[in-house]
Amino acid sequence: MPAPRPTVLITGGAGFIGSNLVRQWLAEESDAVVTLDALTYAGLRESLGDALAHPRHELVVGDIGDAPLVRELLAEHRPRAVLHLAAESHVDRSIVEPLGFVQTNVVGTAALLEETTRWWRELPAESRDAFRFVHVSTDEVFGSAEAGRTFTVASPLAPNSPYAASKAAGEQLARAFAHTYGLPVVTLNPGNHYGPRQLPEKLIPKMILRADAGEPLPLYGDGQHQRDWIHVDDGCRAIRAAAACGTPGERYLIGSDNCYPNRAIVEQLCDEIDRQRDDGRRRRELIAAAADRPGHDRRYALDSAPAQRQLNWRPQIELAAGLRDTVAWYLANGPWIAAATQSLAARDAAGAAARPL
Ligand SMILES: NC(=O)c1ccc[n+]([C@@H]2O[C@H](COP(=O)([O-])OP(=O)(O)OC[C@H]3O[C@@H](n4cnc5c(N)ncnc54)[C@H](O)[C@@H]3O)[C@@H](O)[C@H]2O)c1
Repeated sequence: MPAPRPTVLITGGAGFIGSNLVRQWLAEESDAVVTLDALTYAGLRESLGDALAHPRHELVVGDIGDAPLVRELLAEHRPRAVLHLAAESHVDRSIVEPLGFVQTNVVGTAALLEETTRWWRELPAESRDAFRFVHVSTDEVFGSAEAGRTFTVASPLAPNSPYAASKAAGEQLARAFAHTYGLPVVTLNPGNHYGPRQLPEKLIPKMILRADAGEPLPLYGDGQHQRDWIHVDDGCRAIRAAAACGTPGERYLIGSDNCYPNRAIVEQLCDEIDRQRDDGRRRRELIAAAADRPGHDRRYALDSAPAQRQLNWRPQIELAAGLRDTVAWYLANGPWIAAATQSLAARDAAGAAARPL
């Protein structure tokens, strides 16, 4: 009997980073890919697109917190790695509905870690040593970086939003499972991603679609909040590198040295749309001040040089080119935008009916 094809399990593979990762993995690696995704409002079949019919890919619709399901998937597919991306990811929603973030990012992550550890412990020694649990956290767990300083692996955790706190708790659980049971966990703390298939509740796609529609562009506070931007294809390459050569027990800060204020990013997007539409409009004029987000972190900036060396990984996409291509993607992908907009509208309606804080 031929040996079964090596397999990886990607949680959250129908989301923004996850769907780009699934596509990249199928294109660049020879593994079979199993996607476990609950298809919340943030998970779209449309984001997986052609990958849905790929002979090496299977989408399993389910919750990371569903222990029997996770147990069954691990036993059936025997993955060489779990890439854990599933999460509630939108900071603004975490401010009005924090509990759901704890449920997925903390309790769900704990259930996934527990089932993975239970299964991993029974593997033959060679498979146990080769296995990796790549835990995708965020740079937001470090709080706000002072001017002129960057986050490093030594930065203390100081999460400020309920989202960041739930991610910090999730990565601490992963760390504890590594320490207590020896599970080979590799933790990534990436900066802000941008690129195709990001829901237009996040800054860059939201501003592209509003600017293109001629709608006001509400910028939180003074617009001088800085984020460290990385193209999603570079972020996905970093996740692959972490699975291939990350050291268990280590964390890696993943960024692209593109720390810019939100206003500068939005201005660049406006100019890019003006250029691509070539309709004589000046979309910068649509930028409008909006009340600041409560507890808004002023600045995220990270030092990814050690991760670049240790993972033998380099970001390849320069910010201006990445933003240009991202604008072009959003202007050309109406059916995906319609699906995303519909999903967001349904989520917003459900959120308004709940009891927002
Ligand atoms: N987008 C960024 O800029 C960024 C930056 C740093 C870290 N991260 C982290 O990367 C990961 C992916 O982020 P993203 O932007 O792609 O998020 P996303 O919101 O676009 O996607 C999350 C995916 O997880 C799925 N999901 C949610 N709850 C689930 C559950 N209980 N069980 C199974 N699936 C569930 C959703 O359906 C969705 O497909 C997250 O862990 C996030 O915290 C994101």
